[in-house]
Amino acid sequence: MNNMIIKNASQLVTCSGFEAKAGKDMGKIHVIEDGAVIIKDGVIKKVGTTKEVLEGIDASKYQVIDATGKTVLPGFVDSHTHFVFGGYREEEFDMRLKGYSYMEIMNRGGGIANSTTGTAKAAKEELISLGKKRLDAMLKFGVTTVEGKSGYGLDFDTEIKQLEVMKALDKIHPMDITKTFLGAHAVPSAYKGRGDAFIDFIIDQVLPYVVENNLAEFCDIFCEKNVFSIEESRKLLNKAKEMGMKLKLHADEIVRIGGAQLAAEVGAVSADHLLQASDEGIHAMAEKKVVATLLPCTAFSLKEEYARARFMIDNHCAVALATDFNPGSCHTESIPLLFALSTLYMKMTIEEAITALTINGAAAIDRAHEIGSIDEGKKGDLVILEFPSYKFIPYHIAVNTVEKVIKDGKLVVD
Ligand code: NIG
Ligand code: FE
Repeated sequence: MNNMIIKNASQLVTCSGFEAKAGKDMGKIHVIEDGAVIIKDGVIKKVGTTKEVLEGIDASKYQVIDATGKTVLPGFVDSHTHFVFGGYREEEFDMRLKGYSYMEIMNRGGGIANSTTGTAKAAKEELISLGKKRLDAMLKFGVTTVEGKSGYGLDFDTEIKQLEVMKALDKIHPMDITKTFLGAHAVPSAYKGRGDAFIDFIIDQVLPYVVENNLAEFCDIFCEKNVFSIEESRKLLNKAKEMGMKLKLHADEIVRIGGAQLAAEVGAVSADHLLQASDEGIHAMAEKKVVATLLPCTAFSLKEEYARARFMIDNHCAVALATDFNPGSCHTESIPLLFALSTLYMKMTIEEAITALTINGAAAIDRAHEIGSIDEGKKGDLVILEFPSYKFIPYHIAVNTVEKVIKDGKLVVD
């Protein structure tokens, strides 16, 4: 049956809206008590109280889910991950516990370069099977759309292989996948000290193939001291934009070099990390409506300071939250941890955190018109919590409160 009714929800949190919510609007999540939703052929058709929604409906034609005592929310959107990779880096985690920093490990030849070896070695089938397992884990946390990046190739073949793996997974897995080309994730050893030449290689040799074969919607870069400079980042991003791609940046994560301002200048859809973003950078992002995607699980894992979410929201930014799931700086796909950190340590309200993971997550991948809220006409992507209030999400600290997940109108986690 392709039609579904979800009824009697203690709280139906719609997060209603078709674009990013900035500043104070992030607190508005719109809760309907005793709520119901009708989904037909994967699309949300009716939203309201159970009484309003069921009036005149012949329920025998629908799969009916009784959500008495439960909370219904839009499916979560994890808008920043690196989930396709071969090999793990548990030794680096241990080194960090012993006092080495992320950048020290990278400068000694570890870090991202380490994952390029494992990813180059892995056959496509193996990466697909690993990716599937990781997507399954995310789905159980209520994630119905994920963004995934390349960036563990740093050569033509492996970058393309990662993007093709995501394309294949998008076809076989219920999760929707937005693909991002992150060829400029690190300077490979063959180009040591010649980041500018590597950017030229990406622009001349890889980007055209990615665009021609429609392998990615976004182009991203690790704009960071000792990785890619502002000038190198500007060059690549403007070129990618010229070729029709949308833009993202890993910006101002470890050292403040002006990545947030660059994101505003080039018209990026989002700038991500931003632990060190300056006041001016944050104001520029708010003005140009660049989504500030914050990744507190990474700050937690690297024992860095958290990004200034409160300042950003109070200064009219639209903030999204994402896991940054990857094999190095942040090996977790945990949405409960993300809620715990953002509410307990980043001064975000529960409502703001929910907005950041739904409609603003959708906006961070330019999908706010079709996902991220429970609005008529949007995809039937919903999460049902086992508890009667959305406040249980962070309250049940770092524990998964998701009971059911509905993707495109189909029950995929039960
Ligand atoms: O978003 N900061 C750069 N890139 C990733 C880390 C990738 C890795 O260490 O493998 C991030 O944290
Ligand atoms: Fe990242």
